[in-house]
Amino acid sequence: METALTMRRMKASDIDFAMATESAPECDGLVGRWSEDEYRDSLADPKHRHWLFEQGGTLAGFVIGYDLVSAGAGFYLKRIVVSCKARGLGRRAIYLVSDLARRQLGAPYLWLGVYPHNARAIRCYEAAGLRPFDAKPKALARHRMLSDGAALDVCLLYKADLPLTDPCCVRD
Ligand SMILES: CC(C)(COP(=O)(O)OP(=O)(O)OC[C@H]1O[C@@H](n2cnc3c(N)ncnc32)[C@H](O)[C@@H]1OP(=O)(O)O)[C@@H](O)C(=O)NCCC(=O)NCCS
Repeated sequence: METALTMRRMKASDIDFAMATESAPECDGLVGRWSEDEYRDSLADPKHRHWLFEQGGTLAGFVIGYDLVSAGAGFYLKRIVVSCKARGLGRRAIYLVSDLARRQLGAPYLWLGVYPHNARAIRCYEAAGLRPFDAKPKALARHRMLSDGAALDVCLLYKADLPLTDPCCVRD
């Protein structure tokens, strides 16, 4: 049986792990990178949500999201990185995040931007149930402003209503 993936809040002591994980060569050109100061500022920002994934007692990845519920813009998944790629961890991580975003924050939907050349991430998101969406220019400008997402201009946007259903949890 596969070892369960669990999720907990990121702490300042986890910053080194996050920086090392997003700096792996496999992440080059696919995901943003922050300095330690940027992480510390972000951890102190109440709008930001940071979670760590663990599997069998080992750190397995992390996610940074923005709670934009009160602004009417759902949950923005800013960054997701897992240590071991293409083994299903990414989509399991998204199920965990989606469940928490719905239950803890009341987010009706989750959305993100992904570079068109990031085929692995796109495959992961589509398998998890996210779908491309074409935001109208006004909505896109607003989402960009709320998410500090200058890169959104060159990204494909994906979105899903929450919570997503993890097929592993479906019982007949
Ligand atoms: C994006 C990321 C979080 C996805 O997590 P993951 O565990 O790798 O994703 P999954 O294993 O759930 O799904 C990946 C899918 O892509 C497929 N895949 C792997 N390499 C691929 C490639 N080069 N091209 C297309 N598909 C690929 C896998 O086979 C898998 O599909 P399948 O399960 O249907 O066979 C992870 O790859 C990662 O950390 N990437 C680096 C950082 C990054 O790109 N973050 C996202 C920024 S938007």
